Amino acid sequence: MNATKTSQLFSPVELGSTRLKHRVVMAPLTRSRSVQPDGVPGDLMLEYYTQRASDGGLIISEAAQLSIATRGWHGAPGMYSDAQVDGWKKIIDAVHAKGGHIFAQLWHPGRFSHVSLTGGAVPVSASVDPEYWQNPSRLISTPSGWIQPSPHRALEKSEITGVVEDYGKAVERAKSAGFDGVEVHAGNGYLIDQFLQDGSNKRTDEYGGSIENRARLLFEVVEAMVSAWTHDRVGVRITPSGTFNAMSDSDPEALHAHVAEGLNRFGPAYLHIIEPRMSGSLVIKEDQPPVATERARKIFKGKIVANGGFEPASAAAAIDQGDADAISFGRYFISNPDLPRRIREELPLASYDRDTFYTFQAKGYTDYPSYNGGQSLIPSREDSLAFR
Ligand SMILES: Cc1cc2nc3c(=O)[nH]c(=O)nc-3n(C[C@H](O)[C@H](O)[C@H](O)COP(=O)(O)O)c2cc1C
Repeated sequence: MNATKTSQLFSPVELGSTRLKHRVVMAPLTRSRSVQPDGVPGDLMLEYYTQRASDGGLIISEAAQLSIATRGWHGAPGMYSDAQVDGWKKIIDAVHAKGGHIFAQLWHPGRFSHVSLTGGAVPVSASVDPEYWQNPSRLISTPSGWIQPSPHRALEKSEITGVVEDYGKAVERAKSAGFDGVEVHAGNGYLIDQFLQDGSNKRTDEYGGSIENRARLLFEVVEAMVSAWTHDRVGVRITPSGTFNAMSDSDPEALHAHVAEGLNRFGPAYLHIIEPRMSGSLVIKEDQPPVATERARKIFKGKIVANGGFEPASAAAAIDQGDADAISFGRYFISNPDLPRRIREELPLASYDRDTFYTFQAKGYTDYPSYNGGQSLIPSREDSLAFR
């Protein structure tokens, strides 16, 4: 077991032009607490992010939507209106006041959407797959509760430029709000992943078929984001071999080797990799060691942020062995607002409550306390697994 106290987890690292004092990153976490109906970050989100900021640390924001027509989650914030930018500004100022840094995650959900969220716009994807919206077990969060996604349509080739431009506009807004950088969500079965993986991409134009064609949208989006700011302010998040959200690919290793190689030419701030042992927020292969990071390390020339199923000791080991440059934590950041300190001082970690992940209120959001010397729950290994 690697001791976190002595590990390189608490040594500085540069992710593009952002210099961190430690490598415990907060992963993007959708929490459904923006002010409705307009997806504006309000006081509750301000308190939550302020609690989780740490000196020299990095927070990656929850996924922010690009426009009304591309909303995919009731309660998720946006990056398309002046009011949203004003809301983000307060959060960014508070994070900076604690010496922290914050990137905005930008998100197009593609077919993972419903017309009640989009102002009536039909959700879009790479291709049409009726099984996706017909499966009664697939539910998404809407103003009327958890329901099946709407039928989607394939993006016309002529519409793709507009999608790419939406990312550029969102980057400009994030920059004007004062974020330290932006991250494109290219994993977990959302629009860009729907183009990347051949289980969901059956196109016959230059955005479908070969790996080169399926990766075209991702590279065009990254290019637009880099042009709207600079390469060292842009991160990319991917899920190699990811199956979450009905995803599949006939050769995921070749696909993501091409992605990692292709991203080199942009020189992004980092590549954020979710390990295939995860499916969304569930660990599906408990004993699988990190594999995606190890593979990408040989190809990608920039910094790697690894994510998915890490415990403090395995995070320390991944850094000390050189497999990754930083580790992002999702679920543990929900229940441990002071997670970097707890890991550094080897304090017990509090368990998280799945029932309040997306429940719109302060309960289960801002009421997890920082460690004060004894009040914290101390999960046994079994308890912590039961929470997954
Ligand atoms: C409540 C919740 C919301 C999430 N929202 C997002 C999101 O907005 N964007 C994203 O890329 N991943 C999201 N994820 C995935 C996490 O960023 C992370 O990949 C996952 O929790 C695995 O990391 P962990 O084992 O440290 O929890 C979410 C996970 C959870 C539990």
